[in-house]
Amino acid sequence: MKGVILAGGLGTRLYPLTHATSKQLLPIYDKPMIYYPIQTLVRAGVDDIMVVTGGPHAGDFIRVLRNGRQFGVRHLEYTYQENPEGGLAQGLGLCEEFVNGESVAFILGDNTTDAEIRPAVERFTGGAMVFLKHVPDPERFGCPVFSTEDPLRIERIEEKPAYPGSRYAVTGLYLYDAQVFEHIRAITPSGRGQLEITDVNNAYLRSGNLAWEELDGFWSDAGTFESLYGANKYWAEKSRTED
Ligand code: G1P
Repeated sequence: MKGVILAGGLGTRLYPLTHATSKQLLPIYDKPMIYYPIQTLVRAGVDDIMVVTGGPHAGDFIRVLRNGRQFGVRHLEYTYQENPEGGLAQGLGLCEEFVNGESVAFILGDNTTDAEIRPAVERFTGGAMVFLKHVPDPERFGCPVFSTEDPLRIERIEEKPAYPGSRYAVTGLYLYDAQVFEHIRAITPSGRGQLEITDVNNAYLRSGNLAWEELDGFWSDAGTFESLYGANKYWAEKSRTED
């Protein structure tokens, strides 16, 4: 399985922190943020990785990640998303040749977790897999609505719903088969002008090919001051208790 980490965007919600660098290079305790998704992939046995950069500070990633060998990455490639506001699905769409017909683990560069996705990666046989997490603020995320007849079946996923249909977030970790690129080509920009990964997941749902599981352990994004602070606090405390 190939790995793709999305580290584009302008990080405008974190201005002034992101005027002079990328969000995914900001510190989470003692490491740049992007180390965490890289290590999540490597722990899962995914060591052939493409990083999608974007925005004015894209070049900084090479200085931080170099060729990835220090993390156990076997092969590291970079690409550049011309429109930093084009959306997550557009960023993944740039990686079609890299993925080359295989399946792909896609992680957002501002998501940190200590969950192990290796079992899911090893079991994955096709379709799509999303990882859910119970959160206090599902309106900030992609949010699944479960069927009333079958409470384990996701009926649809809503992107940042004003009235969330469940208390779950669809986290920024996804497994896809190569069909994902067909789905990306078929979707159109959302109200906020982006190709939404939620629309890709809904396309898999409609064809009956979306599976889900709950993510064990800590998970957070870090795209707002609150969540950036929360992620720093968690990883700092974890490191202290492990020393
Ligand atoms: C994105 C996705 C959303 C997902 C979230 C996870 O939101 O659009 O579906 O739940 O990442 O971090 P964004 O952070 O771009 O607002």
